[in-house]
Amino acid sequence: MINDYKNIIEKTLEEYFDDKLKNKEYTLFKDVLESMKYTTCLGGKRLRAVLCLESCRIFSGGYEAAIPTACAIEMLHAQSLIHDDLPCMDNDDLRRGKPSNHKVYGEAIATLAGDALISYAIQTIIEKTPKNIAPEKIIEVLRQYAVAAGAFGIVGGQTADIEAENKKVSLEHLNFIHSYKTGALFKFSLIAGAILGGADERQIEIIKEFGEKFGLAFQIKDDILDVTSTTEIMGKTVGKDANVNKSTYVTIFGLEGAKEKLEGVIKECYGILEDNNIKSDVFKSIINTLE
Ligand code: IPE
Ligand code: IPE
Ligand code: MG
Ligand code: MG
Ligand code: MG
Repeated sequence: MINDYKNIIEKTLEEYFDDKLKNKEYTLFKDVLESMKYTTCLGGKRLRAVLCLESCRIFSGGYEAAIPTACAIEMLHAQSLIHDDLPCMDNDDLRRGKPSNHKVYGEAIATLAGDALISYAIQTIIEKTPKNIAPEKIIEVLRQYAVAAGAFGIVGGQTADIEAENKKVSLEHLNFIHSYKTGALFKFSLIAGAILGGADERQIEIIKEFGEKFGLAFQIKDDILDVTSTTEIMGKTVGKDANVNKSTYVTIFGLEGAKEKLEGVIKECYGILEDNNIKSDVFKSIINTLE
């Protein structure tokens, strides 16, 4: 199922970009379209998109309604990666096993491509979501998108992350950073799928709680992998967090301490699913990849 979801996302994303790239009217700004497509279609685990489709399936039995939103989520995610890699941010030359966006297109186009992805994602949700989905639901998805993409989500978290470099921060402070810079998009992915799948308020609240915990577990694992994995496996430069004195779970608790904390958060993720009788092999196998 995960592979089916991934294939649909890859195929649909290609279509969304190629549709614009082949339009002669856009020749004079083709570079920015190519740059947008480059990072978005470069692969990646597609975790957020998969979680979105599965969340929709859990509540409605189908996932078609969430395909455009899941693609939009991958666009926003790609934007966050392009900007995260810029020299003024993490200054990373490698992403998804290939040169980072700005190494191929230059900093100006990479910055613009990131900006344009935020908008193309919104356009995609509005134009491509099936017409049988109630407009109120789409507006709520867009509202949640706005929160996750901006100062009250990723941008706020990235700001706090950059400002915590070379500082010793408390666990509470670090959890705040992780929950905004990474948790916000996971939470949005799950909530959007649930909304489009017709979940009620209580169900959305549960899925939100799951998204928050999963996002934290995911970033703790990313912090750990930055120390334990290799650049070849990760497709991005490892060891960077320590180099620039980032605040991470590993810098606060040490490697073993971070692993213990991760184990605890993973247990909480499984607990939320069990307590609320949410049956999803997809969720379980994705949580499993963090163990
Ligand atoms: C990377 O996310 C950014 C973080 C929040 C740590 P992923 O590890 O999901 O990146 P891709 O999409 O698989 O490349
Ligand atoms: C990423 O955090 C958060 C984003 C919003 C992109 P990191 O800076 O740890 O992500 P990687 O390790 O570069 O993928
Ligand atoms: Mg970063
Ligand atoms: Mg980074
Ligand atoms: Mg990282």
